[in-house]
Amino acid sequence: MVRAIFHTPSGDRREIDAQCGVSLMESAKAASVEGIDADCGGSMVCGTCHIHVSPEWLERLPAPEDMEATILDCVPDPHPQARLSCQIVVTPEMDGIEVIVPTAQR
Ligand code: FES
Repeated sequence: MVRAIFHTPSGDRREIDAQCGVSLMESAKAASVEGIDADCGGSMVCGTCHIHVSPEWLERLPAPEDMEATILDCVPDPHPQARLSCQIVVTPEMDGIEVIVPTAQR
């Protein structure tokens, strides 16, 4: 487990335990983080799990694949720091990762 910090649309700071080896979305859903809808369950078709990753963490993540980038172009208010949380597989090196949940997922 690593710590992951979510800043929610309501302005709350949620610190959760994120399980290594599975997606950040799955841990966020398990912890009922506000604003992570994940309608497709991680199939990379809905975009409702998207987050904005702080710059210092974004550069440490593997670059998004083409399909993820395509989905991110279709989310409300596309953002240069946006990622799909279902495509971020948590590793021990991510301890303390900090992300913002956008105000709208659809
Ligand atoms: S859960 Fe649907 S794209 Fe991530």
